[in-house]
Amino acid sequence: MNWWNALLLFLLIAGHTSLLVTLVNRVHGLPLPCRTLKNLRHIHDLLIPLFPIILVWFVGLTGPKLLLGGSWHEVSLGWRLYLCLCAAGTLGLLWASVRYLTHRPPRQQRASRSEVVDIAKELGGPPLGEGPLLWLAKTPCNEIFQVEFSHHTFVLPRLPREWDGLSILHLSDWHMVGTLDKPFFERVTEMCLEHTSDLVIFSGDLLDRQECEEWLPETLGRIHGRLGQYYILGNHDWYLRDQEIRNHMHALGWHDLASQVIHIPYEGRTLAIGGDETPWMGQPPRFDDAAQHDFRLLVCHTPDNIGRARRDGVDLMLSGHNHGGQVNLPVIGPVYSPSIYGSRYSGGAFWESPTLMYVSRGLSGRHPLRLRCRPEITRLTLKSPEPATT
Ligand SMILES: [Fe+2]
Repeated sequence: MNWWNALLLFLLIAGHTSLLVTLVNRVHGLPLPCRTLKNLRHIHDLLIPLFPIILVWFVGLTGPKLLLGGSWHEVSLGWRLYLCLCAAGTLGLLWASVRYLTHRPPRQQRASRSEVVDIAKELGGPPLGEGPLLWLAKTPCNEIFQVEFSHHTFVLPRLPREWDGLSILHLSDWHMVGTLDKPFFERVTEMCLEHTSDLVIFSGDLLDRQECEEWLPETLGRIHGRLGQYYILGNHDWYLRDQEIRNHMHALGWHDLASQVIHIPYEGRTLAIGGDETPWMGQPPRFDDAAQHDFRLLVCHTPDNIGRARRDGVDLMLSGHNHGGQVNLPVIGPVYSPSIYGSRYSGGAFWESPTLMYVSRGLSGRHPLRLRCRPEITRLTLKSPEPATT
């Protein structure tokens, strides 16, 4: 056995896996039909275990017999070209790991704390219903019921001093489908009601099953902000009858931000708050009518639209969609993240001047599995660089 060649082949297999994950992440950031995405995932699921077997057999044990002391000069041109691609995948994986290990919150984040509630423990057993993928929900060490209530304080350069201390409850990606049962969402609602907030924001992916709309009055319908509650829908709502969801949310007192900017006068200043459901629905909101000094808040399901937010001079962008990756591997970090940026914006705070973007890990997901990536609800407190003196 040639161990040096075995190590190289192992790294190339890792690179091959990395390429497939990169491809799957990128296409899931695009507005493709559910069936197309599912088929692509099936191909990905097949190729990941198949490639090592083919490589070991045709390159390692037969042909050039690299594992048995053969030479790389004997490797055919076709294999060489593909293995070069795999090497690029290995470098990409290394880069993503370095980025993950060195990532720190932006300096605008001045304080942070969190509390974790184990809802399964509180309710005396896991609140599981009759939705899909129940077997996955029962995976050992699964964190789907360990809800983390994160509290973050950010200093934002353009926050009016009169608004110092403005609080926002940010909710995202509840994915009600029936696997996590209604009592789970009712208990999370209780957690939300423990604090009053100025604004309540929901940033998309509310439902995965239309019938779960019935749960809304006793969950989101109970949550209110002093300045109102605002929402957009996400790609999973796009697969359903989204207008029905909007009608229901309207009846519960939630304001639909889709494709528009709403101006809210507050303490003598104006908050321009816009909603972006692209690339799945509607158009990007236009901040043209907002005065130069208005504070701009964008609620956008995917963090992929950060570039446009920066061009629009958005001060704060609230997103979800990427679920923190759901499975967070040691050293490597999050792997699956449905974004054109891969796992770069899977979750957390990012300063992309002049915009502070907060990406929620969300509360649930179509796939009920979370490892080292707890579900999240977030309360943001905004501070002005020059707080008003009384
Ligand atoms: Fe989602």
